[in-house]
Amino acid sequence: MGALVSKVVLKGFGLPEGVFGRFGGWVMARGNGAIEKHVVKMARLQGKEHVMVLGPGPGVGLVAAAERAAIVVGVDPSDTMLLAARHHCGELVEAGKVQLIRGDAADTHQPDHSASVVISVNNVQLWADRPAAYAEIRRVMKPAARLLVSVSEKRAPGNLLAELESAGFSNVKVSTWDPPGRRTTAAAIYTADR
Ligand SMILES: C[S@@+](CC[C@H](N)C(=O)[O-])C[C@H]1O[C@@H](n2cnc3c(N)ncnc32)[C@H](O)[C@@H]1O
Repeated sequence: MGALVSKVVLKGFGLPEGVFGRFGGWVMARGNGAIEKHVVKMARLQGKEHVMVLGPGPGVGLVAAAERAAIVVGVDPSDTMLLAARHHCGELVEAGKVQLIRGDAADTHQPDHSASVVISVNNVQLWADRPAAYAEIRRVMKPAARLLVSVSEKRAPGNLLAELESAGFSNVKVSTWDPPGRRTTAAAIYTADR
């Protein structure tokens, strides 16, 4: 990929910024909504649960999670995406049910043992230091909390199953899911317990 194309892809989808980022958010909300909702469904959220969503982008998964859980915190390093998610989640943010935090997977600014479920869709491939992110996620998770990480099979970095096990997660499993649509790629969904 040329340098210019890589820059546009990064500003549109990786770390969305400016006009490309706003366009990327629009595309993601439409193209990735089904997988965001599917992963939230797989999480089997209960009414009192506290969910942390890493890299929520435009916020489709935040709304889906807020329909089922008590508190949903979205952590994203992109101001453009936080603004898009703020717009998408509207009243849920005003009601304090959805909180939006500028941070990243390795530095979430969340208290120890605060989340009962952690969800990440389409961003594990962007984490600069995955071992640091796993340690941070485990710090934030409650003792019996669950983790769900989904990534397009084409973009999965490294051996996530082995990485999650060596980071200390238990009951690590992977399944695949084909999102609806002709041009979509299967998602690999990793589930684990703290
Ligand atoms: C490809 S988008 C996916 C957004 C959404 N989850 C979806 O599937 O449509 C990647 C998102 O992850 C965020 N992101 C990038 N690096 C991150 C990191 N290190 N930790 C958490 N989120 C990150 C980006 O800002 C962006 O919102």
